[in-house]
Amino acid sequence: MNNIEKLRSEILAQIAQASDLKALDAVRVAALGKSGSVSALMKTLGTMNPDERKTQGPLLNALKDEVTSHIAARESVLQESALVAQLAQESVDITLPARPQQNGTIHPISQTINELVRIFAAMGFTIAQGPDIEDDWHNFTALNFPPGHPAREMQDTFFLKDGGHLLRTHTSSVQIRYMEQNKPPIRTICFGRTYRSDWDMTHTPMFHQMECLMIDTNVTMAHLKGCLQDFVRAFFGIADLPVRFRPSFFPFVEPGAEVDIGYIKNGDAIALGRAANPADQKWMEVLGAGMVHPNVLKNCGIDPDVFQGFAFGTGLERLAMLKYGIPDLRTFFESDVRWLGHYGFSPLDAAA
Ligand code: DAH
Repeated sequence: MNNIEKLRSEILAQIAQASDLKALDAVRVAALGKSGSVSALMKTLGTMNPDERKTQGPLLNALKDEVTSHIAARESVLQESALVAQLAQESVDITLPARPQQNGTIHPISQTINELVRIFAAMGFTIAQGPDIEDDWHNFTALNFPPGHPAREMQDTFFLKDGGHLLRTHTSSVQIRYMEQNKPPIRTICFGRTYRSDWDMTHTPMFHQMECLMIDTNVTMAHLKGCLQDFVRAFFGIADLPVRFRPSFFPFVEPGAEVDIGYIKNGDAIALGRAANPADQKWMEVLGAGMVHPNVLKNCGIDPDVFQGFAFGTGLERLAMLKYGIPDLRTFFESDVRWLGHYGFSPLDAAA
């Protein structure tokens, strides 16, 4: 009895004096741990006779409960003060200036695509897509390049090792995929990566093209000319930009044309536009175009006696370089953040 009383006041005093959670835990182990003082007393119950045990048992249990609840109460007091101390130490200086934010930019190719989408959406065109890895049918055969045709050699194709696939050399393959899935009237454009084994100042093995396709019962070369002229004038923002068609050959169109826009040379600099004196007018090629070949329509299950239409294709890097004065094609794909900071666009710049 004396022993219990003494132990009780000792332990309760230790609990009250524990100044932090670590010290409190040491008190807990010393009292209630496996070889703690209270546990040692509990063990003596087994050696007592039944009468002793009847009186000592409840006293020891009460001691254990009391110690346990004092420890819990002290623990929450100590936790609270530890938190208060931590908060005081970690106070935030809200007068510090905020860290500068780095804004990303829109790549000139993405910007160019956004601008073209707006121009063609206003003319009623929708957007189609196709895969970068193509088969021979969609990249060549259906586009009226028969097997062994020399025009296949014009494009330095990357073939896959499986023998059946290749990296598309142009987005004209998407025309075929679109006409296989959709019947006229068709008015669609497509943007995408294209691949050719080529590498110099003006050629990279991966570049981007845009393709345009319009098929209906009454589409003529005049529609092609009007559409192209409106498009380049809107894109470059030059109302009287001269546009010229030259006869050319692509297997998937008949007749086929290359399309030039006019520029003027001022020393080393060039400016797109109409020359005051026709003798000073220079031309540069920006597009391939033509009336879709009847064989191409047939290959897609469209009757060429009922339907006809036009198609054209162009390189996006070329358009971006001309519009934004970017001198070197290869810099488009170097992912240099300084270049992107200079030529990139703010995400908040709405397309033209
Ligand atoms: N596919 C051609 C190329 O990559 C471009 C082209 C020419 C697309 C004439 C057309 C077209 O749709 O009618 O060089």
